[in-house]
Amino acid sequence: MVHLSRRTVLLAGVAWAVTELGPNNVHAQDNARPSLPIPAELRADGGGTIRLDARPGSMRFVGDRETATYGINGPYLGPAVRVRRGEKVVAQVSNNVPETITMHWHGLIIPGAADGGPHQVIPLGKQWQTELTVDQPAATLWFHPHSYPATAQEVIRGLAGLLIIDDEESGRLPLPSRWGVDDIPLIIQDRRFTPDGQFFDRMNYIAVTNGYVGDTALVNGTRYPQARTARGWIRLRILNGSNARSYTLGASDGRSLYVIGSDGGLLASPVELKQLLIHVGERFEALVDGRDGRAFDIVTLPVAQDIMRLPPFDGSLPLITIRPEGADGTGQLPSSLAVFPALPQQLPPMSQELVMNMFRDQQGMMPLKTAGLMAMVKSGKTDPAVVARVVNLIVNDPVLSQTDQLSANGVNGKPFSIERMDFAAARNQDLRWRISEGSDLMLHPVHIHGCQFRIISRDGKPPEAERAGWKDVAPISAGGVTEILVRFPHAANRVAPYMAHCHILEHEDSGMMTQFTV
Ligand code: C2O
Ligand code: CU
Ligand code: CU
Repeated sequence: MVHLSRRTVLLAGVAWAVTELGPNNVHAQDNARPSLPIPAELRADGGGTIRLDARPGSMRFVGDRETATYGINGPYLGPAVRVRRGEKVVAQVSNNVPETITMHWHGLIIPGAADGGPHQVIPLGKQWQTELTVDQPAATLWFHPHSYPATAQEVIRGLAGLLIIDDEESGRLPLPSRWGVDDIPLIIQDRRFTPDGQFFDRMNYIAVTNGYVGDTALVNGTRYPQARTARGWIRLRILNGSNARSYTLGASDGRSLYVIGSDGGLLASPVELKQLLIHVGERFEALVDGRDGRAFDIVTLPVAQDIMRLPPFDGSLPLITIRPEGADGTGQLPSSLAVFPALPQQLPPMSQELVMNMFRDQQGMMPLKTAGLMAMVKSGKTDPAVVARVVNLIVNDPVLSQTDQLSANGVNGKPFSIERMDFAAARNQDLRWRISEGSDLMLHPVHIHGCQFRIISRDGKPPEAERAGWKDVAPISAGGVTEILVRFPHAANRVAPYMAHCHILEHEDSGMMTQFTV
């Protein structure tokens, strides 16, 4: 049975917001539009090695200005690495960008020594080699650098890629699975450019409190592309690869998204939604019905994050056009997907508490308030004068000294310190963690390494159906509490501990991260 969530019903009244961008508009602008780039699949070679080469490049994102980029095996972003459950591969990461990086396998359940966290640095010209033994269900994961304190900037320049796990169970389902034909990866990011066409990446109080505020939406590194797909069911593998922005995704003509998978694998059964909220670091796999062959846009609706409502995100913004105009698709929407263990009746006692702190709230939020941002968002009407004042703050507020940056945020009262182990978690045991937000009234998508967990509750309520499966990012509401059930099958020692952090990368780079051993 397709599960029709309560939100589908509640939000049906908002459908008007997207219908104005119907398929007719879409056809009108066809010729000038770029095609959606599909990242190349990369499997282990005959010797079992996956080679990733981080290198500088350049791209034209807007107009004909060249933007200096970083990419992995290409100028921007990386390949889609594909591994199978049970496979043992060697990942060989070469660093040819002019700074120290790391390469973290986000969502992969592997020992700390293979995790690619901030301790496992790869200086320019060096190579890092690690063994990855894949033992977890089929899922859409990703990889990105985890350099402390420069993850945000390295990701902005383009270091990130998909990591897809396949397994037998998912292979037996009739899901669309022809890469780039009816199985379409969508990496959504927002970016801002400096007047000379380079990536904007200033770390000031506005950034370390609010996170990165882009004014251009990119999908797979392209602005408003179009994808020609099979005519039939289409699978979208969606990664919110933005630094800070959440998106509320929907189809321009109101057709449903059937969510089949979350961060760590397939759900028990599809969840039908008109609007899908995706926070940074999260992935969802969703099927859309393109059997009618009619083009539609995937759009993003305004999200309730104050500063993120600046234009062009103050209305419904089209991200990509899907044209299901090719040969007939063969994939189907199964009614049940994965066998899912129910949460245990008897939960273990609380073993860890994590509180997200923002110590420089005032410095980051007050100027926005003074500029009139909160009042504007509340009014629902975009005021160009307010927008100009806020953009001026984003762009011109002074860059922080390293000391100020590193102490702006924290977990459990302390900014991150790479020297200090914060706690130890028991290995191979069901653990109950409580993650909460201090008092700053901001949502934090919190990510934990070395595991896939289940959300027990969020603010006292069970999670939404699309977040009831395997997760590695837990949204913590403003002023709220999320409880999770987590298990760490592998060890992580003091030399290569696991991280738990807010995935708003500007928060992560300014102290909202903690490290632990297993
Ligand atoms: Cu996606 Cu600790 O990172
Ligand atoms: Cu991770
Ligand atoms: Cu945060």
